[in-house]
Amino acid sequence: MPADPPAGTFDRPHGRIIAALDVPSAEQALALAGRLAGHVGLVKVGLELFVAEGPSVVAALRRRHPDLGIFLDLKLHDIPNTMGAAVRAARRLGAAFLTVHAAAGVAHLRACVEAADGAVGILAVTVLTSQDARALAEAGATRTVEELVAMRAECAARAGCAGIVCSGRELAAVRRAAPGLATVVPGIRPAGAGADDQVRVMTPGRAVRAGADYLVVGRPIRTAPDPAAAADAIAAEIAAAAP
Ligand code: C5P
Repeated sequence: MPADPPAGTFDRPHGRIIAALDVPSAEQALALAGRLAGHVGLVKVGLELFVAEGPSVVAALRRRHPDLGIFLDLKLHDIPNTMGAAVRAARRLGAAFLTVHAAAGVAHLRACVEAADGAVGILAVTVLTSQDARALAEAGATRTVEELVAMRAECAARAGCAGIVCSGRELAAVRRAAPGLATVVPGIRPAGAGADDQVRVMTPGRAVRAGADYLVVGRPIRTAPDPAAAADAIAAEIAAAAP
């Protein structure tokens, strides 16, 4: 594992769960993190929360829950100079991981990795799990989802990224294209759960058997009557599936 935040996180089944704090306020984020501490390894601060509350929410989460790693899901996509400058600013926040779009290309990814200087793991988002072949075609892509994910994973590896974000369905292609990269898989749905707006979904057990290192889980945990119990059930699936 190129990045293992905080130390030892990856070695425990629940440590491989990244819970998405997709809520609009710091108060709600801290409350949800409080319920999940000890049941997940990392919490994800995404666009909604970061735009609403700014970097102070990351500082508050780290102060209150030092054992939870922070996954900063800003999905940066701009010119290399701007992406690098944003990474340098984010480096001070103490996040374990920061996401950028792999579609930007190798030079852009390399600028991010250089700016991170090892202080935060750069994860390249390959193809969003909400996109299917039709959505990609509408956006001008002429490759299949799997081909595009593999190409972008290769770019991420060449740029020195810590890992990539992809759906469970492309893990085999990623492993072939870029074997050393950490894999982070959103679009996780326990058996019987609805897909919501996700398209390329997979159960936790299947994703881990297919080679996922970390699982990003939002609504199946956040909207559960007992989020900690939902996380524990996913951790049990990971433990049963882990090699
Ligand atoms: O609620 P759900 O489990 O669908 O949440 C998934 C989370 O993972 C969301 O916060 C979404 O922004 C994020 N994500 C994703 N697909 C990617 C990258 C991140 O769904 N490729």
